[in-house]
Amino acid sequence: MREFLSILLEKEGHQIFTAGDPQRGLEIAKSHNLDLVITDIRMGEMSGLDLLKELKDIFPDLPVLIITAFASPEDAVIAMKNGAFDYLTKPFKVDEITAIVNSALGASGTSGVMANQQTPSNDIIGESPEMLKIFDLINRIAPTHANVLIYGESGTGKELVAKAIHDNSKVASNEFVPITCNAIPETLFESELFGHVKGSFTGATSNKIGLFGQANNGTAFLDEVGELTPLTQTKLLRVLQEREFKRVGDTQITKINVRIISATNRNLEEEVVNGNFREDLFYRLAVVPIRMPPLRERKGDVPLLVDFFLNKYAKIFDKDVMELSSYAMEVLMDYDYPGNVRELENIIERGVALSTSNIILPESLTLSSHKKKSSRKSHDDIPENLIGVHSQEELFEEGLEKILSGFEKKLLTCALEKTNYSKMRAADLLKISFRSFRYKLKKYNL
Ligand SMILES: Nc1ncnc2c1ncn2[C@@H]1O[C@H](COP(=O)(O)OP(=O)(O)OP(=O)(O)O)[C@@H](O)[C@H]1O
Ligand SMILES: [Mg+2]
Repeated sequence: MREFLSILLEKEGHQIFTAGDPQRGLEIAKSHNLDLVITDIRMGEMSGLDLLKELKDIFPDLPVLIITAFASPEDAVIAMKNGAFDYLTKPFKVDEITAIVNSALGASGTSGVMANQQTPSNDIIGESPEMLKIFDLINRIAPTHANVLIYGESGTGKELVAKAIHDNSKVASNEFVPITCNAIPETLFESELFGHVKGSFTGATSNKIGLFGQANNGTAFLDEVGELTPLTQTKLLRVLQEREFKRVGDTQITKINVRIISATNRNLEEEVVNGNFREDLFYRLAVVPIRMPPLRERKGDVPLLVDFFLNKYAKIFDKDVMELSSYAMEVLMDYDYPGNVRELENIIERGVALSTSNIILPESLTLSSHKKKSSRKSHDDIPENLIGVHSQEELFEEGLEKILSGFEKKLLTCALEKTNYSKMRAADLLKISFRSFRYKLKKYNL
C-alpha cells in the first residue's frame, strides 16, 4: 500500500516521504515541512490514532488522512474528534484518494488558527463564539465523507446546518434529499427509502425510485432520526453496513454511495443507554456529532438575527424596514426562547405584520412563555424610542413643529395600540379630552 501510494502520488506531482512505522513517520514530520500525512491505523506498537494525536499536538494545522482496513466506526469517530482531515476505508478507488489529497492540500493553504473563517452559508446568521465554532466545524467536515449527527433543541437551525454541509461538500451538485423518519410508516419503510418495482405489492402501481436512490451520490438528510423504531433502525443499519440495497421486488442490487447527515432533538446517547436506540447504528451516524446551542446560550446573536428577520419580513410584507424600540429590544434580550431561532423569527414576523408605525413596540411582540425581567418599567411607560431616532442635525433640519407633530402622531398611535383601539381609553391614557383626541386623529388622518 505504501509503495502503491507513493508511486501514485509522485505521478500526480507530489514529493513523497515514506515510513514503515509511526516513530519514523514522526521523525520525518519533524524534520520536513509536510503538507499532508497519510497514515494507516493498525501498525503494531503505536497506532495511527496515537500518531494523529502527536502530530496534531506539534502541527495543529497539518492535515492528516487516516486509512483503515477495518471499517470500524468507533475508530472513525476518534479520528475525526482528534482532528483528522478525513478517513478512508480500504479498499478505495484511486479517484477517491486523489480527490481527498487535493482537497486536503487546498484546505491547508488557508491555514491559520481558525482554519476557515468564511461563513459557510448566507442563511445561517450568527457571530457569537458558539456559532463561529459551528461555522468552522462545517467548513472542516463538509469536504469529508464522514456521516454527521446534528442534535439540539427544536428551532436551533439543524436543518440549515445540514444543508450548509451539503452545499459545501464535493457532492454539492448532486441531490440533498430530506427524509423525515417519523413520517414514514414502518410497513412502507423499505418501499419509501429504497423504492419498489411495479406490482411488487398491492398499491405498487408503478416503479418507484426510493429516497435513498434519489440521494445516491449525494446527501440523505435523516431528520428526526431519534424517532426510528427498533425495526426501522435495524433495516437502516443493514443497508449502511452492506453499502447496497435492493428495490422492493427487484433482484438488481444498487451500490450505495450516500453521505448521511441526521438530526434529532433527542439525546441519542441517552436513548442508546436506555436501550431505545441501537448503539451500532448510533456510531455509524454520529461519526461527527454537532451540537446546536440553544439561542438562550448565545443571546449575543439576537440583535443580528432581529435585523436579518426585520429585513426579510419587510420585503415579504412589502413594508418599509422597521426597527425595534429600545424597550422592545430589551424585552427580546431578556427572553429565554424555548422555541429558539424559529420562535424569534415568528415574533419578528408578527411584529412586522401587526405594527402600524415603523417602530415596533413591545406590545407588538408576542412571546410564548412569560419570562420577562420583573422589576423593569411597567407596560404603560412610553418607550424611549417614541421620541424618535434622530440625530441633532436631523432634529434641527426638521424643525420644532414637524418633530412635535411627528411625536404627537406616534403617541396617539401608541395609545390606541395599548388600549386595543378604544378612543375613549386612549384619550384617558393621554390625559386629554375625548373631543380633543378625536380632533387630533382627524388632523393626522389616523
Ligand atoms: N442561525 C440562524 N439564522 C437564520 N435563521 C435561522 C437560524 N437558525 C434557525 N433559523 C430559522 O429558524 C427556523 C428553524 O430552523 P431549522 O428548521 O433549521 O431548525 P431545526 O433545528 O431543524 O428545528 P426542528 O428540530 O424543530 O426541526 C427556520 O426558519 C430557519 O430558517
Ligand atoms: Mg428540523
